[in-house]
Amino acid sequence: MRIVFVGPPGAGKGTQSKRLVDYLRIPHLSTGDLLREAIRNGTEVGKVVAPIMADGQLVPDELVLGVFRERLAKGDCDDGCLLDGVPRTIRQAEAIDRIFAERGQAIDIAIQLVVPDEELIRRLNGRGNGPTERRPDDRPDKIPFRLQVYQRQTTPLVDFYAAHGVLKQIDGIGTTDEVFDRIRQAIESIRSKATGAAKR
Ligand code: AP5
Ligand code: MG
Repeated sequence: MRIVFVGPPGAGKGTQSKRLVDYLRIPHLSTGDLLREAIRNGTEVGKVVAPIMADGQLVPDELVLGVFRERLAKGDCDDGCLLDGVPRTIRQAEAIDRIFAERGQAIDIAIQLVVPDEELIRRLNGRGNGPTERRPDDRPDKIPFRLQVYQRQTTPLVDFYAAHGVLKQIDGIGTTDEVFDRIRQAIESIRSKATGAAKR
């Protein structure tokens, strides 16, 4: 199963991805994590993206797609994977559809985590107090800008995946267990439909 998480910064994509990949036993492909790893390793890509990410802007599509292709080339994603924080623009979404289509594959479900802005701001300001580490882009003056970037550049993906018939909107408010249960039910309903179709 190929799953995409769509949702603003702080929606819980990373938190829920970790649980979902354990549940489904598929690889977790987070471009944010891959880019932060490149920064830590001091690679050429890392040097280019560090100031862009700290500023809360999106990294150029070609660069992200390069990192994405490189990760897929590891070869462990043939039976499915979970995309967290990618795609983030229509251009990325179209390119990723093409990459999967070349392998005879497609996105099965795009999960949109819906969380109001005031809760996103509260969560991002609070990061570092809980299980997750605070990041350079969690500065209080950068958080509203990151939400604007999401609105402008990433929300068109909601209509994109709805038009492809794979969008599932999930209420992202509640405990992490409650949100995970909603996601699990959505996944199971898609799985049972797929199994039913295969039997017919
Ligand atoms: P990325 O790493 O993808 O970050 P993001 O999506 O902007 O935001 P977060 O990771 O903060 O949000 P999240 O939804 O994962 O929430 P989390 O689970 O952590 O991207 C970072 C940067 O990299 C981008 O700005 C861009 O520069 C670049 N980049 C990456 N991918 C790119 C791409 N495809 N194209 C271009 N540029 C790209 O949770 C947040 C907090 O809330 C945590 O503290 C958590 O503990 C808490 N929390 C989670 N769930 C709950 C809950 N249910 N109740 C209460 N608190 C909760
Ligand atoms: Mg994340």
